[in-house]
Amino acid sequence: SQLEMFVDEIPDMPRTKGYDVVHGVPVSKTLKITMFQKYWKFHKDLPLTKVFAYGETKRTATVPGPTIEAIHGVSTQVTWQNSLPSEHILPWDPTIPTAIPHNKHGVPTVVHLHGGIDEPQSDGNSNSWFTAGFKEVGPRWTKKTYLYHNQQQPGNLYYHDHAMGLTRVNLLAGLFGAYIIRHHYVEAPLGLPSGDEFDRPLVVFDRSFRTNGSIYMDPVGNNPKIHPQWQPEYFGDVIVVNGKAWPYMTVRRRKYRFRIINASNARFFKFFFSNGLRFIHVGSDSVYNERSILVREILVAPSEIADVVVDFSKSKSNSVILRNDAAYPYPGGDPVNESNGKVMKFIINGQREVDLSRVPKNLIKYPTPSLSEVLKTRYIAMYEYTSPIDEPTHLYINALSYDDPVTEKPKVGSTEIWNVINLTEDNHPLHIHLGLFRVLDQTNITDIDTFRECMNKLNNAEKCEIEKYAVGKKLGVEAYENGWKNVYKMHPGYVTKIIVKFGYIHTNASYPFDATAEPGYVYHCHILDHEDNVMMRPLKLVK
Ligand code: C2O
Ligand code: CU
Repeated sequence: SQLEMFVDEIPDMPRTKGYDVVHGVPVSKTLKITMFQKYWKFHKDLPLTKVFAYGETKRTATVPGPTIEAIHGVSTQVTWQNSLPSEHILPWDPTIPTAIPHNKHGVPTVVHLHGGIDEPQSDGNSNSWFTAGFKEVGPRWTKKTYLYHNQQQPGNLYYHDHAMGLTRVNLLAGLFGAYIIRHHYVEAPLGLPSGDEFDRPLVVFDRSFRTNGSIYMDPVGNNPKIHPQWQPEYFGDVIVVNGKAWPYMTVRRRKYRFRIINASNARFFKFFFSNGLRFIHVGSDSVYNERSILVREILVAPSEIADVVVDFSKSKSNSVILRNDAAYPYPGGDPVNESNGKVMKFIINGQREVDLSRVPKNLIKYPTPSLSEVLKTRYIAMYEYTSPIDEPTHLYINALSYDDPVTEKPKVGSTEIWNVINLTEDNHPLHIHLGLFRVLDQTNITDIDTFRECMNKLNNAEKCEIEKYAVGKKLGVEAYENGWKNVYKMHPGYVTKIIVKFGYIHTNASYPFDATAEPGYVYHCHILDHEDNVMMRPLKLVK
């Protein structure tokens, strides 16, 4: 039976400051955040659900976890602790490359700050995992307390689990939360809606539940003889925002800022309002746009972040539903239905208010590197492999698994061009740790079958003369996606050309850490089920 929509009020997750204030001056702080198993109420009519939740205490732990608020220039340290029991609450698959403790006891976890420009030792490498009480640690584990420099541009980040082969189930269980870096001198003059009431993270994800409340995940793989559990994509029919299924939010007749994070494993969202109300898009992923952009819909892949302002004084009705219209898998899958096509409801209260917040046309401009600065051009090919029953068995990048030798070794501070060649049928959101990039263009690969045949033999896009095939029609880059990003949607059958910078974008200063240190970084598809099996490659910075 279907859960009733819009009956639970949306919570704001607890806010945790990543700094102390001493004599009016913010100073660095060390937080302790622990992963607990507990019960969570996703809907008033659904029994309690067993989850994994981040929190400072078990009582205050939430799904999603607390929103960490950091200040530009003031570092935050976090001791991430694991208090999880010996068994996972969801089925996992030992036949894909997976973190497995020796005595099979304990849930391996490791935390990545997505969008963070931080030292490799604090980047949450998939093999830097640890179990409860650090009883067992992975082969690339280095330390307990992670250091987040917060010296990058202001924007939206999010922290989430990244353990080898378990990322999809650890996030499904609840291990993710928002992280904001604020920069008062740069942001205050913009005048955007601010303060806890009018500036709110919305963490959106899809889940399925059994009638007893537990999270439902198909326990049988699509190729059970090869991978007994692994499925190529997890989709749930219930849309959850800030830990409540199809919640409602009561708003005043004025502007609000929403930092929308898609924390789904595989679901893309194409958000729009049921009454035509528009979004003013001000930032993407971890960076502000150069200009504010008025749009009717926004397409947000897993782990993309849309920072938007919504002016409810422009609404023609007293309530409005935030809807979704993205097929799943995207773009060629099933169309949305009555359940997953709805996200949440806004109830607009009272008269139009005096609203001193503004959305200026010009926001923050960061220089874009010129093509003459490009030090290296790379070709990154995405493949899907299928079994005799024509079901996906695994996905690789450049026909390599995660453990194959490092092939991407950018120089610290350098700029590169990556041509990402998507030879599969689905869209893959590519995420690069440390680096930021801009999308230059997306070009259709003509005669893709001939090109694919050559790649099957040579596995070398240059030798297979990709430039001769990448001559088809171009997909425009939407204005709201035309700025700096850390995840972008790689369209199937297209070459997506991006310009990547492995240095700060807001200053010429170099990183305040050694980016070449072990255990290095990674880049991967952010469909978690793909990332786990194993659409992820190491990324090693060099001097
Ligand atoms: Cu959002 Cu490698 O992660
Ligand atoms: Cu993918």
